[in-house]
Amino acid sequence: KIIVLDFGSQYNQLITRRLREVGVYSELHPNNITANELKEMNPKGIILSGGPGSVYDDHASQLDPAIYELGVPILGICYGMQVMAKQLGGDVTKATNREYGKASIDIQQSSALFNGLPHQQRVWMSHGDLVTDVPEGFVVNATNESCPIASFSNQDKQFYGVQFHPEVNHTEHGNDMLKQFVYDVCGCVGEWTMDHVVDMQIEQIRDEVQGRNVLCALSGGVDSSVVAVLLHKAIGDQLTCIFVDHGLLRKQEADDVMTMFEDGFNMNVIKVDAQDRFLSKLAGVSDPEQKRKIIGNEFIEVFDEQADQLTNIDYLAQGTLYTDIIESGTETAQTIKSHHNVGGLPEQMNLDLIEPLKALFKDEVRRLGEQLGIPEHIVWRQPFPGPGLGIRVLGDITEDKLEIVRESDAILREEIKWNDLERDVWQYFTVLPGIQSVGVQGDERSYNHTVAIRAVTSVDGMTSDWARLPWDVLEKISNRITNEVNQVNRVVYDITSKPPSTIEWE
Ligand code: XMP
Repeated sequence: KIIVLDFGSQYNQLITRRLREVGVYSELHPNNITANELKEMNPKGIILSGGPGSVYDDHASQLDPAIYELGVPILGICYGMQVMAKQLGGDVTKATNREYGKASIDIQQSSALFNGLPHQQRVWMSHGDLVTDVPEGFVVNATNESCPIASFSNQDKQFYGVQFHPEVNHTEHGNDMLKQFVYDVCGCVGEWTMDHVVDMQIEQIRDEVQGRNVLCALSGGVDSSVVAVLLHKAIGDQLTCIFVDHGLLRKQEADDVMTMFEDGFNMNVIKVDAQDRFLSKLAGVSDPEQKRKIIGNEFIEVFDEQADQLTNIDYLAQGTLYTDIIESGTETAQTIKSHHNVGGLPEQMNLDLIEPLKALFKDEVRRLGEQLGIPEHIVWRQPFPGPGLGIRVLGDITEDKLEIVRESDAILREEIKWNDLERDVWQYFTVLPGIQSVGVQGDERSYNHTVAIRAVTSVDGMTSDWARLPWDVLEKISNRITNEVNQVNRVVYDITSKPPSTIEWE
């Protein structure tokens, strides 16, 4: 395995992910690990991640110097390269200009990293300091206009440094470099696959949980489904799931979830019918943030009540992903919308947390789900927000309005599916803006609701563009909604990107 030492870069998990992609197992550990601890792990290689600090800061992170004596190959990336340079006797200085973004490097003297790669290539830089003198025994391998030592190495010791980020997609040959480091330099063989991930996770869960019991909040979404099935594989009936039907689910959703988990996977699932509770708490409330808070709090309350009735629960399982951790970890980020998942639960409940997906990205979770035998329509389903249809009925929520959204959404989903567009569109749903307008239906004047269709393309939900759905598909959807859903006489298509709008309307 490869050990990645974390110096705080926002890209650090991307490194472990890239290694998984080329079939090599890796783990991320803090940079203050000792040489002895590292030796115990018996790594084939070590990667030092980038980081926001400067090696000249008062509290700059450094490595235990004995790590350089272990005889294990090391690749330093950005800050990782600088720390290696400084600790081994080279020089690092502040650059006159911070360099950020695309750059190009020239390879002057090849190293194992650059074997067979073009002499000039595009890379991604993001740094304020740079190495200005290499330590003894090192040679310069690549240069760049503003950074004359863009890569260095010491072939004897098998130490390599790159100022740019090979783990980022914008670095043209980054994957090749990482691959050559782990295969050619470290001698890894690339046999790490999804079955290994499943086996290892199951073993880790069994080791941790032993004979104790775990509770899991199941929403039927991809992440909680994968967590539940994984845990069930590992500990069987020691797992209990709670599925709260808050009345804000899509058409058929509650039945589908129960059928799949109870009948398909034979799991213990407690279904709580809490529709009335949620709707009465929400009655007359039209402020979006307040609606979100009510739904979030009520969810916790319902969940708590159920959990209280169970004895002997020690763990709470959550489908936290790596991106959730990164996005919620930014202290300065403004709250655009308070996201509701089960994030608020543990403080209230005094249970230990178990989060088996927290090092994985969404597409890896999907592959894990496929490996676990979860049906394709669940694994590939579009994101659905915790507050559900509650934030797609704008303003105050009533059962009547929910019905319009539920029915029109079902039609939209059917048409997207029949036209084989599911994989082209990231998310698609209908919204009830609360506008009424004049129409003519069956030769009579009507004064009915408008339904908006939202369909977007996106990679991660952080930014998005409106999907260019074929006109004839839109036409069909519009016809069906006005014909089949009561009280609707107008359908509009939302053509705004995010930013400036968001994907959901509330
Ligand atoms: P916005 O509307 O902020 O949404 O552009 C980005 C993505 O997040 C989903 N979303 C949520 N997911 N709890 C969730 O689990 C929430 O409270 C929530 N609000 C929005 C949204 O559907 C989109 O995929």
